[in-house]
Amino acid sequence: MQFQYVTTWGKRAKADAVAFPCYEKTNKKIEPIQAIPAGWRKVAAAPLEIEVGSHPRVLYTSGQAEPRAVLWNLGKKKELGLEELRRAGGLLADLSKKEKWKHIHLFLQDLNEEEAFALAEGLVLSNYDFTDLKGLRLKEHSQVLLNKVSVFGLSKNAFIAMKNAQKLCESVHFTRDLVNGNADDVSPQMLVNVAHELAKNYTSVSCKTLNKKELEKEGLGLLLAVARGSAVDPALIILRYKGNPSSSQWTSLIGKGVTYDTGGLNMKPTGSMETMKRDMAGSATVLGVLRAAAELELPLNLSVTIAATENAVDGKSYKPGDVYTAYNGMTVEIGNTDAEGRLTLADALSYTAKKINPERMITIATLTGAIVITLGEETTGLMSNNEELAHEIMQAGYQCYERAWQLPIFKEYKEQLKSDFADIKNTGGRGAGSITSACFLEEFVEGKKWAHLDIAGTSYLTKARRYHPKNATGIGLRLLFNYLKSLAS
Ligand code: BES
Ligand code: MN
Ligand code: ZN
Repeated sequence: MQFQYVTTWGKRAKADAVAFPCYEKTNKKIEPIQAIPAGWRKVAAAPLEIEVGSHPRVLYTSGQAEPRAVLWNLGKKKELGLEELRRAGGLLADLSKKEKWKHIHLFLQDLNEEEAFALAEGLVLSNYDFTDLKGLRLKEHSQVLLNKVSVFGLSKNAFIAMKNAQKLCESVHFTRDLVNGNADDVSPQMLVNVAHELAKNYTSVSCKTLNKKELEKEGLGLLLAVARGSAVDPALIILRYKGNPSSSQWTSLIGKGVTYDTGGLNMKPTGSMETMKRDMAGSATVLGVLRAAAELELPLNLSVTIAATENAVDGKSYKPGDVYTAYNGMTVEIGNTDAEGRLTLADALSYTAKKINPERMITIATLTGAIVITLGEETTGLMSNNEELAHEIMQAGYQCYERAWQLPIFKEYKEQLKSDFADIKNTGGRGAGSITSACFLEEFVEGKKWAHLDIAGTSYLTKARRYHPKNATGIGLRLLFNYLKSLAS
């Protein structure tokens, strides 16, 4: 979708509709936020009651270049916040989708840069549909998305903010596409290809990958253990975005890249496995963050690590009860082969700590079913060994309404991970499942500042929420981008 800046109303191109955002007056009536051009005044003067958050009202007219006007209620002017604007943008895109409109004019005024950004976020985030897997016959009928929004009345800078929001949210679409894609297509090798593609597209980005042989040579024993049952090879991906060449400081994002999680020999039952193509959402998110950082030229250095593999079932599968050796030399007893994410992340963490030596590391992963029980699909789980970092991430999440909530990782929880045979076990029993998974990860951060986001609930929804579609959402991307932006400034 493109935003277009139009200065002369008289010279506008034909469109499917003209949208007039309105404020709510005290008497339940609404009033357009901008003086309405002649010809439309009568329509807009209609005494309407439209509830905040309800679908915009469509009015039909004749004698105008556009056959319809859309009026919708942003709420009281004084109470208008960024999230209200995101939702308003989402509602307009939803309506356009329903009506199969392709081009609308949008009348905006007195929105500042931040507000214009938020409205554009809602519009672009909602203007999404995943149709790649529809058959040819259905493809013809598949969703028509909005492809042009012409904006009137905004300042030039506010318009630039809308363009930036568009770039950011296109990275969210990129992340969603990877997560929604078939697991047989979005394989470890495909993630490798996507990473190389990013390095090709942006001169500020470089990419290095390790194949199975190289992983064996380097000794990433936990990643290799998880990969043993899979017919496809694992890979380690390291991307670097150098946005601040004068600095030697790095921030590292590490995303879980299990391209399909059967559970391994502790196999998931029917009802739990069907959506497990989503288990690489963390890696798709960090790829999206890096893409957005490069696209919007964030002035900082960012690295991304992905330990990509399937967790499959085979005669060669790694075994519950056996002990495997991590990249950092620790030995790990497998309590459950379905707790595979933390194993792949453990090697990715200590490898990143050693090779990049970053200031801080952030893991993002669909790590535990327990976080879905704790926080549902609304809130991302946050755990950290550093209070300041946790606070900054939580703040960044609040600002863009991708909220995270912190759980404690007190050292006492570590006792649940004791093993008779090895240094540590990968499961901690029934209690505090999300916390013990993070306690496991903490053993591999090599003294670095570290925070962990568990997006098992938020990255893939059972029903649409606001401007987040059903299935893959890309949640976590705007949170991390916002955090990085605050770091860079
Ligand atoms: N990928 C799953 C976590 C998950 C569950 C993500 C539901 C999204 C939705 C993870 O690998 C897993 O299987 N975790 C186990 C851990 C347990 C065996 C200790 C879980 O949560 O049940
Ligand atoms: Mn699992
Ligand atoms: Zn998993």
